[in-house]
Amino acid sequence: MKVGIIGFGSMGRMMAEKFAASGLLDKDSLLLSSRSPEKLRDAKKWATVFHNNAELASSADIVFLCLRPFDLKGVLEEIRDSIKEDALVVSLNGSVSFINLQKSLPRACRIAKVIPSVTAEVDRSQTLVCYNELVSTEDKGNLKRLLVCMGNVIELPEKELGMGSELVSCMPGFIASIFDVIVKASEEHTTIPHDQIVHMVLQTMIATGELMLEKDMSFEDVVTRVATPGGITEEGTKVVYENFPETARVLFEKTLEKRKLTAQKAESQFD
Ligand SMILES: NC(=O)c1ccc[n+]([C@@H]2O[C@H](COP(=O)([O-])OP(=O)(O)OC[C@H]3O[C@@H](n4cnc5c(N)ncnc54)[C@H](OP(=O)(O)O)[C@@H]3O)[C@@H](O)[C@H]2O)c1
Repeated sequence: MKVGIIGFGSMGRMMAEKFAASGLLDKDSLLLSSRSPEKLRDAKKWATVFHNNAELASSADIVFLCLRPFDLKGVLEEIRDSIKEDALVVSLNGSVSFINLQKSLPRACRIAKVIPSVTAEVDRSQTLVCYNELVSTEDKGNLKRLLVCMGNVIELPEKELGMGSELVSCMPGFIASIFDVIVKASEEHTTIPHDQIVHMVLQTMIATGELMLEKDMSFEDVVTRVATPGGITEEGTKVVYENFPETARVLFEKTLEKRKLTAQKAESQFD
């Protein structure tokens, strides 16, 4: 099976490097093309590089489109006449619907959308995947066998891809910003060096997640376990439960609205 990746930016490069490093794809079965050929110079050692998207599409059984939404339509038009009859087309972009992707393809095609998370860098992605109705069980198996080299694979319906992306793809950014605020607030009351605070908080954060997963604990279980009634932790958790819900509500309100506007703009090019 030959796998093509069009677009060698942040996502395309990460996926190509993971597929090659995991041994899933050798030089002959991993095909790459991108707008700026100089970026692919080093990849020639471990992948087959094309200078033309259409040529790549004519050889690939799975074609990953690792492109920004406004580059998608142009590339689909470039490859539409050369794409293999039974190819699986995979868009990394969540904003453009299956219906619109299909409009730029020559015939009814098997199409999937895949949203990896930056945690794929440490093989801990919670990669989201959704399929149009033509994708077969065999296609799903082939795609999943590739994606597991980056971490877990979670199938969602297309309509849930927005909130799904907030929860796994945006979440590293949300978590980092929340703990950035917490670390800065703690620094007003301590002389412990910044790097040591960050290390202490990160290790505690990772261990809390592992504790919950291993012992099947809920967030409330952890709070109850640590925050003894009338104690110090309870004083802090009360502040979070009283003040943070409004921030969390506004966060999702804003990000989902931004997602809707981005999708409307991206989809309008297909009208
Ligand atoms: N970044 C994330 O964390 C993340 C997570 C999940 C999903 N996504 C989605 O993944 C998609 C790609 O994001 P990204 O962060 O990888 O973007 P990116 O870093 O900008 O990469 C896009 C790549 O596409 C190339 N390209 C543009 N037009 C092309 C064309 N006509 N032919 C061939 N290659 C072309 C660009 O070439 P140049 O190098 O010449 O610019 C660039 O290398 C987006 O739709 C994004 O929404 C991103």
